[in-house]
Amino acid sequence: MTVQIADIGKTVLETEYAVRGPIVARAAELEKQGREIIYCNIGNPQSLGQKALTWNRQILALCEYPALMDLAPSAFPADVIEVAKSILAGTKHGLGAYSESRGVRFIREAVAEFILERDHIGVDPDAIFLTDGASKGVQTILRLLISGPQDGIMVPIPQYPLYSATITLSEGRMVSYQLDEANGWKLSRTLLEASLATAEAEGAHVKAICVINPGNPTGAVLDEANIAMIIEFAKAHGLAILADEVYQENIYLSGDEFVSFAKVLHQLEAKDVTLFSFHSCSKGFLGECGVRGGYFEFRNVPDEVAAQILKLQSVNLCANLPGQTAVYAMVRPPKPGMPSYAQYAAEKGAILDTLKQRAILLAEGLNRIEGISCNVIAGAMYAFPSITLPPERTDSDYSMALLEQTGICVVPGSGFGQAEGTAHFRTTILPPTEKLQKVVDALGEFHRNFK
Ligand SMILES: Cc1ncc(COP(=O)(O)O)c(C=O)c1O
Repeated sequence: MTVQIADIGKTVLETEYAVRGPIVARAAELEKQGREIIYCNIGNPQSLGQKALTWNRQILALCEYPALMDLAPSAFPADVIEVAKSILAGTKHGLGAYSESRGVRFIREAVAEFILERDHIGVDPDAIFLTDGASKGVQTILRLLISGPQDGIMVPIPQYPLYSATITLSEGRMVSYQLDEANGWKLSRTLLEASLATAEAEGAHVKAICVINPGNPTGAVLDEANIAMIIEFAKAHGLAILADEVYQENIYLSGDEFVSFAKVLHQLEAKDVTLFSFHSCSKGFLGECGVRGGYFEFRNVPDEVAAQILKLQSVNLCANLPGQTAVYAMVRPPKPGMPSYAQYAAEKGAILDTLKQRAILLAEGLNRIEGISCNVIAGAMYAFPSITLPPERTDSDYSMALLEQTGICVVPGSGFGQAEGTAHFRTTILPPTEKLQKVVDALGEFHRNFK
């Protein structure tokens, strides 16, 4: 007999991942029937026309096929050739061999220098693990921390469903805390304390808090004071922090800046708070989602726990080597004066400029529609507007009807979690500007007529 659904574990059956859920499945069906679909459901920049940076792709090409250095030397700038040679030397055996479990040391040293330059703090390359995208890192750390159904992990609402899905798969307990929509989706100590107290009263052993900054799906960028508050909260309750910082380059408001948890942790001298920070090649201005490159860095982790992290990572042998190479290209961009610098700066600037324009266009456009209200999109790649619905209608009905009528594919707010009695949807800011304007116009028309 073939494998039956009854053979499948309960945790797998209960796991949900809305970003690729039933609405997206329906979109694929409609597309097969010849409908034009605008996929606004997922932050996958290159699927919506964003170009890969030449720097990254040239380095990847040479590392994948070193013979190109002899076959077509004039096709590659001297700095790319030099970097590719140094990466190949660092891997010792090229991209076709496993690396050590943490990832190629030469690349981890480059990540350590990147963090040092960004935050002016000391970094241990052995506390850096290269991963197949940030997702794998988050999964590893949640697996590490969850030992049974009583183990709670605090997760923001709304959240990115990687967290809820991984906690369900690990048979842990998701402890939701609300983000404050009326206050630009910032975190509030009162709401954090309330959610922790409720979970503990129900018997949970809460071990960690996850924070996504800049926020997905909220688009909020946390300031230093808010981050310090979260660290103080974690310290007061003995929680570890998982800081998901994959959108650190996606900051759109002048005056805002990305502040890392590692930097604030260092400033507060919070040596008794464990921090895991995650970064990725998938977002920012690179958008290399398909390459699957990322890393995590940890602080204040005892050696015996670090050894367990290494063991968990060893089960996967190592992250893919092209992904590791892309991490190197991300953390070591060309510097002024290098042959590739001008092109790199122009490509990066153009992508970030258009993302910024789209963030403004989308939020302003949504706010002009009566019954839709959207916070400023300060960072990341999404809008999460609140919508007023007719009685008895859900945000899933709304998103499905939007897809059927307009071809626009968004994700219902319920897939991310939302305050009771509210309804939202999430859309990316990624479609090209003319298409995004069409999305806003079609949404307005649809919303006015939705019954
Ligand atoms: C907040 C957040 N964390 C992690 C990820 C996963 O990124 P990666 O492609 O690096 O696995 C995403 C992807 O959208 C995300 O939005």
